[in-house]
Amino acid sequence: MKFLGSIVICGMLILSAAPNFAQSKIDPKEIKEKMQWFADAKLGIFIHAGIYSVNGIDESWSFHNKKVTYADYMKQLKGFTLKNYNPAAWADLIAQSGARYSVITTKHHDGVAMYDTKMNDLSIVKATPAKRDMIKPFFEELRKRNIKCGAYFSLLDWSNSNYTGFLKDSSRYALSDDYPRWDRFRALFQGQIKEINTLFKPDLWWFDGDWEHNAEEWESQKVRHLILSGNPDAIINGRLQGYGDYETPEQNFPVSRPKYNWWELCMTTNDNWGFHHDDNWKTPYEVITIFVDAVSNGGNLLLDMGPKEDGTIPDEQVNVLKELGAWNKKHGEAIFNTVGGLPQGHFYGPSTLSKDSTSLYLFLHGHVSGTLMVKGIINKITEISVVGNGAQLTHKVVGKISWSPVPGLVYIDVPENVLDKYITVLKVKLEKPLKLYRGQGGLN
Ligand code: GLC
Repeated sequence: MKFLGSIVICGMLILSAAPNFAQSKIDPKEIKEKMQWFADAKLGIFIHAGIYSVNGIDESWSFHNKKVTYADYMKQLKGFTLKNYNPAAWADLIAQSGARYSVITTKHHDGVAMYDTKMNDLSIVKATPAKRDMIKPFFEELRKRNIKCGAYFSLLDWSNSNYTGFLKDSSRYALSDDYPRWDRFRALFQGQIKEINTLFKPDLWWFDGDWEHNAEEWESQKVRHLILSGNPDAIINGRLQGYGDYETPEQNFPVSRPKYNWWELCMTTNDNWGFHHDDNWKTPYEVITIFVDAVSNGGNLLLDMGPKEDGTIPDEQVNVLKELGAWNKKHGEAIFNTVGGLPQGHFYGPSTLSKDSTSLYLFLHGHVSGTLMVKGIINKITEISVVGNGAQLTHKVVGKISWSPVPGLVYIDVPENVLDKYITVLKVKLEKPLKLYRGQGGLN
């Protein structure tokens, strides 16, 4: 989906991704207040639940890309049982991970609603042995634990006969040839959005699939209005052709800090969104480093799980969430309710800041001990400690010249015995809110 541009500098190939986000039409000032819980939340858990888990094949894309026939794909309806679905256990696991919100598929591109839609018969309630709505009981359990509830909804619906697209490289009809047919589709998807908004009152709407039509064709502005008129505090992700509140780089790790006010990296735990026969699991260490990287750059991580057709969650995913949760429990002060950390160049690793910017948190990747260096801190440091461990560390300011405004280098001693098994976090307490030297060492 993303266009990759590339430039060559001094023999080095530099890839730069041109974001494919539609220019946002939403004024950040208007939504600042309602975005606060999202900015503080840092971690969300994404859930791709759907009939694709029956055979463990690509969600919706497998028939669209003609890997399986549509008929074979739809046979999975008969195998979707949810017979061991335990929304309370899911919500417990999510709470244990430290996540503050969770987003579940209410309808993927295959058009199968995961709740009792009245707009058509294609739902797990009417067309599968599960015969039940997954969403309401899950949201109830999340809310009991104070976790915000998000609804993923695919605007495009390749199953619906009034939708333009179906299989790759072809289309059912051109919208310009049959507006009344497109209007029938709009009535369906907007009707479902109204249902979900009324039945479940999501705190967050996570749209997907907007790339097949423009804002006018989806009636994005109207969709935004219909959500907010019934549910004014809802947050809307950026996949609504310019009418969302925040950006969603998907599986793409930013190298330089994104310029968006709010953004969220959505990422799989292996290489697939739904349950799949795929063993390329990310390790807890990898997930934690990616999470920390997103937070230090001012973003959130929306980490995905793909439950099986019976409603159980693969052990590897449970393990990642538990390890991440244990790490969060110990280091939460450096993550939740913080803001993005130092600009690049001051410290060779991720960092965050307390909101009043009197505490600077430094994240140490890969079992580093010895002496670390931080540059450009003008403030007086009152104390350095190890988060979740309490050990006090010694430091030395090196090269501070009395007549120069350029601050000295801060060297911090990190003994081996304070290290965390994944990422160690140091808290640097400052006398006053952080002041940085950003110059070129007396050359300007
Ligand atoms: C993409 C895919 C979709 C997946 C989503 C999650 O847009 O089309 O299958 O659900 O990303 O971010």
